[in-house]
Amino acid sequence: MAKSLREELRQAILDRVAKKENPLEGFYCDEQTREAILAVLVAGRHLLLEGPPGTGKTTLARIISALLPAMDTIADCRYNCYPEDPSCPDCRGKKSHKKVKTPGSKRFVRIQGSPEMMPEDLMGDLDPVMAMRLGIQDPRAFTPGKIQKAHRKILFIDELNRVPQRTQNTLVQVLEEGITTIAGFDFTSQVDTLVVATENPEEFAGVERVSETLSDRFEEIRISYPDFEDEVTILKQYGKTLDAVSVPEDMLHRAVAISNAARAMPEEIERLPSVRTSLSIYEQAQSLARLKNVKQVKAEHVEKAARRVLQGRLVVSAESRYYDKQDLLIEKVIEQAKKK
Ligand SMILES: Nc1ncnc2c1ncn2[C@@H]1O[C@H](COP(=O)(O)OP(=O)(O)OP(=O)(O)O)[C@@H](O)[C@H]1O
Ligand SMILES: [Mg+2]
Ligand SMILES: [Zn+2]
Repeated sequence: MAKSLREELRQAILDRVAKKENPLEGFYCDEQTREAILAVLVAGRHLLLEGPPGTGKTTLARIISALLPAMDTIADCRYNCYPEDPSCPDCRGKKSHKKVKTPGSKRFVRIQGSPEMMPEDLMGDLDPVMAMRLGIQDPRAFTPGKIQKAHRKILFIDELNRVPQRTQNTLVQVLEEGITTIAGFDFTSQVDTLVVATENPEEFAGVERVSETLSDRFEEIRISYPDFEDEVTILKQYGKTLDAVSVPEDMLHRAVAISNAARAMPEEIERLPSVRTSLSIYEQAQSLARLKNVKQVKAEHVEKAARRVLQGRLVVSAESRYYDKQDLLIEKVIEQAKKK
C-alpha cells in the first residue's frame, strides 16, 4: 500500500531534522513560528496561514510541497492514480498505463479564493461536449475540479476567507471524508491531500470569513513581517540583480530600513509596506544606478527608488495629519530610516 501524503511529508521533515537541516529552508521567520509550522505538518493537520500580504505565505506553501518526494502516476491521468491501482475514469478504459514521475515541487495545486468561486470550480463539472458524445452517465464526461487534481498533492488555497460560505462547505466534506462523490455518477474519487490555506488579517479582508466549521479543521498560524536581518537575507536571496551594478551591504540595509520605518507608523499608514516593497526598492535602486552608468548603488538611488515605490503603494490613513500630503509622509519615512 502506498504511503499517504501526510506520511510522506512527515517522513521528509523528520529526515531533514535528523540531518540537522532546516526543512523550511528559504522561508524566514522566528524560531517559534518555524517550530509551530513543523509541528502542524508532522501531525498531518491542515495549515491556515494568517498574515498581511507579501510576507512569504505562498513561498512557504511551495517550500512545503517541494519537501515531498517525487510521485509515480499514470500518463494523461487527471486524478493522479496510484500506478498499482489505476481506477479513475481516465485510466479505466485504457489497455496500457504508462508510468510518469512528478517531482515534489509539482505536487502543488493552487486555488485563488474569490467571491465568484462556485462549488463546481472545486468539485468539477460535466463537460457538455463530452456528455453529448459519450452519454451523460459516462464518468469520462466529467471534468475533474481542483479537488480531484489535488489528490496526492498539496492543495494551496489563497485567500480562503474570500471563498463564499457555500463553497467552503463543499470543502469541509472533502477534508472530512477524503473522497468526492459526484452526483449522478457511479464513481467516487479519493482525495489524499493536505491543505495549506491563507487568510488576510481582518483589516485587509473583505466581508467573508472562514466559516467556523471549516476553520475548526485547520491549525491557524500567524505570519508577520520578518525581522530586519531576515529581510536583508530575503533581498539577497530573492531580489533580482543587475549585471555591472553592485549593492553594498549598507545600501541593502537602507532599503529594508525604509520599509521598517514605515511599518513603525501604523497610525499614519493604512497599508504597511510588505517585503515586496523592500524588494522593489532594492531592484529599482539598481536600475537607477545602471541608468546613470554608476557601478555601485548609492544612498541617492535607494532614496529615489523608495520615493517612487512608496508613491504607488503607500496609502495614508484618513486620520493622519499627513492626509493629502503623501509626499511629506514619504520624506519623513526616508528620514527615519537614516537613523537606523
Ligand atoms: N518570510 C519570508 N521568507 C522568504 N521570502 C519571503 C518572506 N516574506 C516575503 N518573501 C519574499 O517576498 C516575495 C513575496 O512573497 P510571497 O509571494 O510568498 O508572499 P505572500 O504572503 O504569499 O503574499 P500575498 O499575501 O500577497 O499573496 C517573494 O519574493 C518572497 O520570496
Ligand atoms: Mg501569496
Ligand atoms: Zn487515473
